[in-house]
Amino acid sequence: MYRSRPREKLKDDVLKFLSSMEQDHSILYYDIVGSEAHSIMLHEMGHITQGELKRILSALEEAKQSPTSIRTEEFEDIHEALEAFVIQRSGMDAGGKMHTARSRNDQVVLDIRMKIRDDINEICAALAGLVHGLIERAKENKQALMVMYTHLQQAQIGTFSHFLLSYAYALMRDMERLYLTYHRINQSPLGACAIGGSSITIDRKRTAILLGFDSIIKNSIDATSSRDVFLEYASALAILTSTLGRIAEDFIIWSTTEFGYIELAESYVSTSSAMPQKKNPDPLELTRSKSAIVTSNLMSMLGIVKALPSGYSRDLQDIKSPLLGTSAITLETIKIMDYVVRSLQVKKERMRNAANISYAIAVDVAEQLVMQKKIPFRTAHRIVGALVSIAAGKGNVSLTSLQFADASLVLKDHKVNVKPNEIMKIINEMTPEKSVEARKSSGSPNLLEQEEMIKSLSQGISNYSTGIQKRTKMVKGSFDNLERTVKNYLQP
Ligand code: ARG
Repeated sequence: MYRSRPREKLKDDVLKFLSSMEQDHSILYYDIVGSEAHSIMLHEMGHITQGELKRILSALEEAKQSPTSIRTEEFEDIHEALEAFVIQRSGMDAGGKMHTARSRNDQVVLDIRMKIRDDINEICAALAGLVHGLIERAKENKQALMVMYTHLQQAQIGTFSHFLLSYAYALMRDMERLYLTYHRINQSPLGACAIGGSSITIDRKRTAILLGFDSIIKNSIDATSSRDVFLEYASALAILTSTLGRIAEDFIIWSTTEFGYIELAESYVSTSSAMPQKKNPDPLELTRSKSAIVTSNLMSMLGIVKALPSGYSRDLQDIKSPLLGTSAITLETIKIMDYVVRSLQVKKERMRNAANISYAIAVDVAEQLVMQKKIPFRTAHRIVGALVSIAAGKGNVSLTSLQFADASLVLKDHKVNVKPNEIMKIINEMTPEKSVEARKSSGSPNLLEQEEMIKSLSQGISNYSTGIQKRTKMVKGSFDNLERTVKNYLQP
């Protein structure tokens, strides 16, 4: 349709190569409302008559109601196809004016910005749901004692809830990143035209308001050339899915027979075609791999935009697929994690047993020596390390294993004012419960600390939820207003 200069028709396979139609279906709706707002503004500025506007809007409304009636085959993208549809329905004397003072270059960024704006709201809402789920499960498991790991080796005693809350905190930061990106996404490029604006008097602020944007992107080169906000968005999602990947990995490990700390609900596991006993955590495994895909999408986008000359180049079309793909993948991954979190069974007994027979109380014992006997931590570390070595040598893991150590063998190597029976008393009294109770520092798994974390996370999530609802309402309100304006013009 735009072939004013070339005399030849585009070759079929070249057209196919150029086409972005496959991705454009997800921005069609935004292209329609964007075109409505632009046409209304053109009329208000005196460039098209009310009668012409009416014919354009009626065609656009028809496109909105039955998108499948838009012929797409012979066009390069949805912008071209929609304009052709409008011209076909409303005539060249009306529809041919719709593209006054705009270009596909500002149009495509406009559409993507509106789409990503909705995606941010949807993803943030889903994320708020997931964080809420984590908090709920944490409340039920505040006393579920569990070994914590570093290097995947037993480290300290903690609780299952402490892990869930740690995920909630990380996801809240993911939420914050996305939430802040929204302001930069929600600015209108419309009216920047191809690159340098227009000599026709238009009102860019008016279209921005009609479409619910906070402001316009001032510089017309910047408006059409920059994709940094989409990179920012995709980065935030890459980080977010990496958080989900880490949670997935923990759950996969803990659901093995060897750990047995959690059991995934039957509806979230897969089976084996060969081994009847299998209950595989496939949704969680795919959560891990989705994080890789989202990361590589970001890399594709960065690769495409890096060092492009200013001004639209067709390369930019190719960021649509990784960008929109990233939105969709992230949303479904959050939902999967939400189901898993809410439905998983916590095997408290099993966790407790593992805590009982571990050496994960070692730091607590050393800290008691520091507090009660005023010995340097480094000395306490050496004493307890030697005790663990003796106990481990005895190979008995049926009781709190440190009880099998012999303090008298160790103490002779150290100049400290502590008797063997005093150390053994500390060890004998150090149960996993006591270990967690004794952990007083801010943010540790101590019950009071956990309650504080639950409180502050709940408050945080409720603030975000209010904000997200407000934003969603704002966008919907603008689109409803626009629809009313369109209906008014369409009245007979
Ligand atoms: N389909 C194109 C895209 O997705 C739209 C813009 C095309 N502009 C142009 N001057 N060729 O980016």
